[in-house]
Amino acid sequence: MSYVSRANPAKLELHHHLEGAAPPAFIRGLAKEKHMDISGIFDAQGAYKYVDFWDFLKVYEAATSTLQSPEDYARLTRAVLEESAKSGVIYCETFLSPDFCGGRDVGAWREYLLAMREAAEAAERDMGITLRGIVTAIRHFGPDKARQTAVCAAETVGDFIVGFGLAGDETSGAPADFKWSFDCAREAGLHLTAHAGEWGGPESVRAVLADLGVSRVGHGVRAIEDLALVDQLAEQGVVLEVCPGSNVALGVYPSLRKHPIGELYRRGVKVTISTDDPPFFHTTMQAEYAGLHAAFDWDDGVFAEITQTALDAAFCDADTKTKLR
Ligand code: ADE
Ligand code: ZN
Repeated sequence: MSYVSRANPAKLELHHHLEGAAPPAFIRGLAKEKHMDISGIFDAQGAYKYVDFWDFLKVYEAATSTLQSPEDYARLTRAVLEESAKSGVIYCETFLSPDFCGGRDVGAWREYLLAMREAAEAAERDMGITLRGIVTAIRHFGPDKARQTAVCAAETVGDFIVGFGLAGDETSGAPADFKWSFDCAREAGLHLTAHAGEWGGPESVRAVLADLGVSRVGHGVRAIEDLALVDQLAEQGVVLEVCPGSNVALGVYPSLRKHPIGELYRRGVKVTISTDDPPFFHTTMQAEYAGLHAAFDWDDGVFAEITQTALDAAFCDADTKTKLR
């Protein structure tokens, strides 16, 4: 049986931003309810419109400005998980930012979290999809806000909040600026990941490994520019959260065929597959699988191996992993 003929295999997704997964129609609906005019972030077809990564970050933040209450985030969680479940996703780790959920106030953050968690539990009952959260600092918001974010993370670590991460503009500041936050999160028992090697080169990947002690790297694909680093990643079993469709949509690589995931995999790096911000990049987990099959001739065997890598690298507890097997 060829891969393309196989119906929607079960998938695990480790790199996904909750606001970035908001369907544009959902955001338009919220804007209308709140009498907000954000029409400038959509194109004539109603899709999100941006010209480059930095513009994408602005559009992302404008879309997110419509999300103003725990109830809004509960509705978002439901809408997003419905889309993911259609793609066969049975487990998703999503990035959540106290910057957008209560302005990094721990009390407000707890209320947002409760709302998202209840929506996630309902989705698990109804659709069989499990959600876990990675609290994420935003690099271009700076180290002071990241410290407050880490405190929010440390205060809410548990069976839902399982990780701490760093997203946003990789060209802003240095990983070492965020060391206090990552140390705080690690001491609280959280697993760690950071975006690197998307807009920065191999030195950026080396820095998050050395300065922040992450076990996974968000993207990480530009490690391919330094084969000694590729060997190090393979030897140390560092897991890359690769988002091929995102990288092509944002112009990191011109096409999937030119994307380094095939070579990273061949060289023994533990790669996983994710969508990042699916509607922004006109992708889904199903589309990622189909694209990788077409570009690299990956078959069920490769996808099964990558699914196992994702399960091993997931930040959830052992009981949850057992249920997912
Ligand atoms: N936030 C949402 N998507 C992102 C990406 N691809 N890189 C960095 N920060 C992000
Ligand atoms: Zn991302």
